[in-house]
This record gives sequence, structure tokens and C-alpha cells, in this order.
Amino acid sequence: MKLRKKQIDNVPVYVTQPSLAPFSDFIEKLRPSWESGILTHNGPLVQKFEKEIAKKLKVNNYVAVSNGTIALQMAIKALDLNGEIIVPAFTWIASISAIKWEGCKPVFCDIDKNTLNIDENLIEELITEKTVAIMPVHVFGNPCNAIAIERIAEKHNLKVIYDAAHAMGSKFDNKSILEFGDISATSTHATKLLNTAEGGGCITTNKELDSKLKRIRFFGHSEDKRDIVEDGFNGKMTEVHAAIGLSNINYYDQVLEDRKYKYELYQTELSNVKDIVFQRKIFGTSNFSYFPIILSSESLLLKIVKTLNAKGIFPRRYFYPSVNTFSIIKEKEACPVSEDISNRILCLPLYFLLEKKTILKISKLIISSI
Ligand SMILES: Cc1ncc(COP(=O)(O)O)c(C=O)c1O
Repeated sequence: MKLRKKQIDNVPVYVTQPSLAPFSDFIEKLRPSWESGILTHNGPLVQKFEKEIAKKLKVNNYVAVSNGTIALQMAIKALDLNGEIIVPAFTWIASISAIKWEGCKPVFCDIDKNTLNIDENLIEELITEKTVAIMPVHVFGNPCNAIAIERIAEKHNLKVIYDAAHAMGSKFDNKSILEFGDISATSTHATKLLNTAEGGGCITTNKELDSKLKRIRFFGHSEDKRDIVEDGFNGKMTEVHAAIGLSNINYYDQVLEDRKYKYELYQTELSNVKDIVFQRKIFGTSNFSYFPIILSSESLLLKIVKTLNAKGIFPRRYFYPSVNTFSIIKEKEACPVSEDISNRILCLPLYFLLEKKTILKISKLIISSI
């Protein structure tokens, strides 16, 4: 069986496109829900999706929710956090908004210029008596130094929530990176390796936390629904989204393999090119979900973007700008490495339907711009 594969020539090449199972697969998965009229409320498809994804990732539990941002908020809520949370400046704004929506304060930590993840050597100097947690991000699916982070958290009695929005399929010590920290929050947004259109999940090895997350997801109801026992909200995934996930999960291995192949193709084409460096993978195994290049200057980046755009190719400046510089952030803290990398990083198109010849063309155009 093949993933939906429809090649249309002369269409714009965007940075990503969702990997989608054939439409008929989706309809077949959705049919029972349509016939029974059960569209949500932790229905049979969501329960099945949770079981299948946990099995696929070899994790104990998976709490499916409406999106990755809600998954982060639920993690903060489940751990009853109230205070400062140390978070890298090189991330998507959702890491920060989740912290703020839960009444906590983000404290920005700079990143390592090679791995692009939080620089674990800078965490301890940011810890104050108000610090309650660390929220590292596995940037582009590249695992953080989970051992060092765990050591710091233990020493200072802090919780760890991993923003694992990019990290489904990444591993550390040969097990899913999603099982590290107190809770990991992932995303199954349309752009992710496994997608449910919108969606996310919380993963924890702690059974009590797992049950608490499920109560929070459903307005804070007790098991028998006669009482409200948590300060909950509506974080439920619908049956329609679960049906998308169930149809796509059959192709997950194929998508993962394809991503690695294309990542390595780009890397081969662009290796030894002066002015380009790649994200370094030091800890664990990445899922190769994004292909970022770091250029020697922002002006070169802009030149490359212009060249590619003229040919209908649209890479993405991501993450840009560094989140500590947004005007919504009132207490500015300098994170020079993150700010510098943000100005010079470009994610190239990478998705299942992307053809080998397009990767070769993009690489050639980049080299010619340099
Ligand atoms: C690092 C990071 N955290 C959190 C999120 C939020 O995920 P979602 O879009 O599913 O809410 C994203 C989205 O891509 C992200 O890149």
C-alpha cells in the first residue's frame, strides 16, 4: 500500500505538506463514528488511536488532546506549577504562551549553537527560589541532553516538561524521547510526521499523572462523572481527528523512513558548501523531521530565499525571530546565540510528496546563490 501520492508539476513547493493516507482509508475509519453519532467525548476512535500510537512509539501511555499547545498547558496544570519556568529562547511561541496562560513566568535560556537545543550549561545560573520547572524543547526532533537535564532537575527539585512537539519518533537510549521528563507534550498538527490535522498528546510514565491529565482534559470530572475534582478544561480530541490519525498511523514507518532518506540527500548535496552548517545531532536519534540550514549571514539567507521564491519554492525562516525578542515579552532577556541563529536559519522543503529531483534542484539553486 502507498500513501496518497499525487504529483502535480509546476505547483509551488512549500516548506511542508501533510502526509495523508488514501481518502478511502480515512472514510472507513470514520464510518462507525458517523453511524453511531459518537463524534467526541473520548469515543472509541480516540481510545483506539491512543492505544495504537502508544504501541507504535513503545510508550506506556498517550493522552490524546486537541493540540500541542493545550498538551503543554495540561502538563503545567497536572504538575500544579506556579512560578518561573526555564525555557529556551529558540522555540515556537506556543511554549511561551502555554507557560503564561497557566499563570507562570517564562525565563529564557540561551541555546547551544550546534544542537540548537537549550544549553544545559546555562540552566543552573537561571534558577531562583521561584523556579518550579524546566521546559526544554527537542528542536526539529533533535533530542536534548536528557541525562544532564534530569541531573539538574533532581539537584534543584524541579519538574521537567519536554516540549516534544517536533519529536515523535525521536529516541534516546534506544527508547522514545517522549518518555523522558515528568511529562512530554507532543503535537500531531498537520505539519508533523504523524498528523491528525490538529492534535497533540501528553506522555508520562507516572500512572497517577496520566489519570490526572485525562480528568483535566475532560472538564475535571471524577471517574464516575458525579463530581469535579480537578481544575480542568476542554482538551478533548474529536473522533474525526482520531480517524485521521488512525488512517495515517499505518503509514507512519514509511513516512519516517522517507524523511531520513530525504534529509540525508539534502545533507549530501549541501555538505562541504562554504557558508552552510547543519544542526548537530549529539544525543539520541533524531526523527529527521525538518531540514534546517544555518547560513553564514542573514543577507545570504535573504538572497537564497529570493532565488528560491523566484522559482516557486518557499522555504521557511523557522524559528524566527527568537521568542525573547517579541513585543509581547515585557521583561527582555538577551539570548545572543538564539537571536543570532534565528536570523540565519532556514528550513528547506521536506515532506513525503517532495520529489528527489526537487531536492536536487533546490540544492543546486542554493549553491548557485552562494
Ligand atoms: C516547539 C513547538 N511547541 C509547541 C507547538 C504547538 O503545537 P500545536 O500547533 O499542535 O499547538 C509547536 C507547533 O508547531 C512547536 O513547534
